Amino acid sequence: MERTLTILKPDCVRKQLIGAVIDKIERAGFRIVAMKKTKLTTETAGAFYAVHRERPFYGELVEFMSSGPCVPMILEKENAVEDFRKLIGATDPAEASEGTIRKLYADSKGENIVHGSDSDENARIESSFFFSTEDAVRVNN
Ligand code: CMP
Repeated sequence: MERTLTILKPDCVRKQLIGAVIDKIERAGFRIVAMKKTKLTTETAGAFYAVHRERPFYGELVEFMSSGPCVPMILEKENAVEDFRKLIGATDPAEASEGTIRKLYADSKGENIVHGSDSDENARIESSFFFSTEDAVRVNN
């Protein structure tokens, strides 16, 4: 069984779409292993997205991700990383396939509702950013 890390971003929380997005996630067969609501500081958002430090959108991304509460979750499913990226759709909602979470709910590349890990290794690194081993215990099976 594979795991991935998602963050329901501040735009998702502001638009009161937490429930709608979790519904899509659970209906797609993902189990929620760990979940919390938190607010990132600019330092923690900057550290989480450090891989994008040299990109022109880095400042905007850090500002947005620390602009309000967000909901990180560890999700579990066979083929979780790839299947979750299919479920959320392309980074730019204008390019996302019909029915994907970003196509349905996102406004722009920057404010795109959800994050999803892009590899197994990054899923592990990103999960440990938010959750301890004790948090990440599967309870419903
Ligand atoms: P995410 O999957 O969280 O990973 C990196 C994020 O950078 C991405 O989603 C987008 O929200 C953001 N991003 C990528 N490209 C751009 C861009 N051109 N302008 C603003 N934000 C971007």
